[in-house]
Amino acid sequence: MKRGEFLVKGVLLACSGACALSACSSGDDGGGGTTAPPGNGAQTVTVSLSNLADVGDQVTSNGVLFFRIGSGNTSSDFVATESVCPHQGGQLVWVEDAGYIECQLHFARYEDDGDVIRGPQNSAGNTRDLEVYSTSISNGNITATKN
Ligand code: FES
Repeated sequence: MKRGEFLVKGVLLACSGACALSACSSGDDGGGGTTAPPGNGAQTVTVSLSNLADVGDQVTSNGVLFFRIGSGNTSSDFVATESVCPHQGGQLVWVEDAGYIECQLHFARYEDDGDVIRGPQNSAGNTRDLEVYSTSISNGNITATKN
C-alpha cells in the first residue's frame, strides 16, 4: 500500500493529501466537527465553550443549536437542539429575553425542552417538537449526541 492510501473494511481509499478520515476520536478540539463513533450509530457535534461564555450566548454547528441558559459549566447550563425548523427549514434561534426558541422563517416558537409553544405564523402546515440532544462537557468543550 502506498502512502496516502487507507484500507477501510476491505475498501482501499486513496488520499491526495487534503483528506482525513472522518471518524474522529473523542479528543476532538471542539472546532465544530461532527464525528460518528463506530458501532452505535450516534453522531456527535462538539463546540468550544468559549462560544458560549455568557447566559444567552448561542452557536450553531453541524445542525445543532447550542445555547447557554445558566451561569455554571455543567450540562444543565446548556441546551442543544436541532438548528433547523421542522416546518420548512427556517433557522432557529434562542431568544434569551423571552425564553424561547424561535424560527426566523414563520416564527414558530419552542420551549427550551423542545415543546412547541406556537406553530407557524401565516403559513400552512404544522410543526413538531424539537429534538433536544444530550450533552457532555469536557476540556472546555460541549458535545451534543444525536441518536
Ligand atoms: S420554517 Fe419554521 S415555522 Fe415555518
